[in-house]
Amino acid sequence: MDKPSQTARIRFDGCDIACRPGQSVLEALEQAGHRVPSGCRSGACQACLLHADDSEATTAAQAGLSPAQRLTGLFLSCQCRPAANEQLHVRRPADSPRHVARVLGQTWLGASVYRLRLHCDIDYLPGQYITLFRDDCTARSFSIASLPGPDRQIDLHVRHRRDGAVSDWAARLKPDSQLWLQGPMGRCVYASPADQPLLLLALGTGLGAMTAILHHALSRGHRAPIHLLAATRRAVDAYGLDLRDQLPKGHPVTIRHMALQGQRPGMEQQDLYDAVRAGYPDLAGWAVHLCGSERMVATLRRHAFVAGAAMRDIHADIFHSGTAGREVRNSA
Ligand code: FES
Repeated sequence: MDKPSQTARIRFDGCDIACRPGQSVLEALEQAGHRVPSGCRSGACQACLLHADDSEATTAAQAGLSPAQRLTGLFLSCQCRPAANEQLHVRRPADSPRHVARVLGQTWLGASVYRLRLHCDIDYLPGQYITLFRDDCTARSFSIASLPGPDRQIDLHVRHRRDGAVSDWAARLKPDSQLWLQGPMGRCVYASPADQPLLLLALGTGLGAMTAILHHALSRGHRAPIHLLAATRRAVDAYGLDLRDQLPKGHPVTIRHMALQGQRPGMEQQDLYDAVRAGYPDLAGWAVHLCGSERMVATLRRHAFVAGAAMRDIHADIFHSGTAGREVRNSA
């Protein structure tokens, strides 16, 4: 049994709430019956932002926030674990950083992936990600797969899961439905000189972010070779096999699709890591963009660095597993 003297106290919405050792502020508030938005529970989606007066615990839970968010005392409640006997005064953010978006429609891109097209008046860079809110407490993050334009459209590639708290709900939203989103976030964006070769590596719906970066590079007149390798575990889950047909002619772009299991026309039966190791032993001078699971990103980032890419030229967007095994993203 916890000793009372070890329990931190949280003051929230007029209540005094106990926070056990090791428990996050988010968990303590939920246990006390408060509704707090959350998504990944791993510090990626920023759905659980709360506001607090300065303390060691809340300062430590500000990783990834902008200087303005830090200065105003915002912190990630899923990442904040108060020390024994600590007392926190926590409140909901006064200004919601959320935006209203309107659904324009969904288009199936493959057996299990659909494109959700939204209209929202925000500025973003291709390859960043946003967090969608189903309700006050349920949120998931998705990479942006489109280029910004005057039409203010945002395309997301969503892996549909029948039990997906957000992916199944969003698949059934009618045109003109409204929803909340937060963002954009992330730094896995095109920022290379036109003569620097690009290696874009995508796992699953990471292809959305890499497609956006590819289109962005081409729209900026990128001259050096661009190589995009897209992988799924099963061939049946692959999509975007016609990506090449959508590209303007005359640019040096190499596109390869691969899967570990199964075969489809236009796909290789190949492991992404093996393909990169065999095909790109020397990456000196290259910019490398990675979008996938934490393990995939860690492995390929290490390879890229050992193969000569400078750390400043390696950009990653990581999927984290959320509370129920959902995928959310974070840039690193
Ligand atoms: S960052 Fe806390 S729930 Fe996603």
